[in-house]
Amino acid sequence: MTRYEGNRGRGAFPEDWDRGDARALVPSHEAQVQELTAIDAAFAALYDRAARGLAAAADLEDLQQRAVIVSGRERGVLTALLEELPDLPLEDRRLRGGAYNRAKRWLAQVEEARRAQLERAAEGAAGLDVTVPGRRPWVGHRHPLAIVRDELLDLFHGLGYSVYSSPEVETDEYNFTKLNFPPDHPARDAHDTCWVSERVLLRTHTSPGWVRAMEQRRPPLRLVFPGRVYRAEQVDASHMDQFHQMDGLFVDRRVSMADLKATLHTFARAILGPEVKTRLIPIYFPFVEPGCQLDVACAICGGTGRSADGKAPCPVCKGAGFSELLGAGMVHPNVFRAVGYDPEEFTGFAFGMGLERIAMARFGVPEIRLFLENDQRFLRQF
Ligand code: PHE
Repeated sequence: MTRYEGNRGRGAFPEDWDRGDARALVPSHEAQVQELTAIDAAFAALYDRAARGLAAAADLEDLQQRAVIVSGRERGVLTALLEELPDLPLEDRRLRGGAYNRAKRWLAQVEEARRAQLERAAEGAAGLDVTVPGRRPWVGHRHPLAIVRDELLDLFHGLGYSVYSSPEVETDEYNFTKLNFPPDHPARDAHDTCWVSERVLLRTHTSPGWVRAMEQRRPPLRLVFPGRVYRAEQVDASHMDQFHQMDGLFVDRRVSMADLKATLHTFARAILGPEVKTRLIPIYFPFVEPGCQLDVACAICGGTGRSADGKAPCPVCKGAGFSELLGAGMVHPNVFRAVGYDPEEFTGFAFGMGLERIAMARFGVPEIRLFLENDQRFLRQF
């Protein structure tokens, strides 16, 4: 076969060019040289020199220049070889063409390996500047409602309660009927329900959870029911069409209103501080009897309802002195009957609170919509 006869005087490798260690860069270098030697020893030697030359590049710029010497369009050593191909007999052309293509691909690998090596070295040389200011990692945190919820769960866990989850999409039966709302009772209207279909709705409170829990379990029960609730409400600064509640349920033998009062007392002091002034007033809910409401004294006037000099109504509570914190009461006998408990055997109390309201009182948030808007300027403050 035709032998390699130089490159017609063009693009020769410079003196001392091939001092690099191609083998250290590409472990298969030796095998590749041998493979080419089997075809043409002179071509293989040329390939070896080209690879060593690339491996010897002193820096990225030098590497660039060396790559041009090897395979530049005009004067590349390999390019010149390619020009011989058409003059060769067909048999040789095939063989040499294949060898040429492989050589070209392998040289690109050598070049790439040397480039990576040089880049790594450059990075290392730049060193570590310990005077550069650190970058503070972006650390997330809990939503204010989650803070309040977790604190409540912690408190009730300490009192022996565990969490019960129930569906947000409920039936009329669980949301109302089994909670002793008669079919045409005006209390249903008070809940401004979002209906999904004739019997299906988005729960208006977390109280349906009691019914589901009591149907599944037998007393003693000590459960809390945290979750999201929905009402077809006109949205304003203190009303949303979705918000969060947490109900609590305690059922056993001989549970009394005194137990409820002690529990609410513990709750209010834990959440709002040991000095907080509260009051319990009677109020109607269909699912409790008697029913009551826990009010907390206005943080500004301390419950007097008067301004600091006593001459005008308190500007914050507008003279009321107290604001509503939660609803509570003794579980109605009809609710026990609906779940198959004997109201002569078991008694219990329940309470339900709005988490937004507690968070607003706790953090001084004036606007309920902020909790759902996902505005970082608000959320970052907690
Ligand atoms: N479920 C009532 C509401 O959403 C709150 C409540 C719970 C009242 C438990 C009494 C007892 O308004």
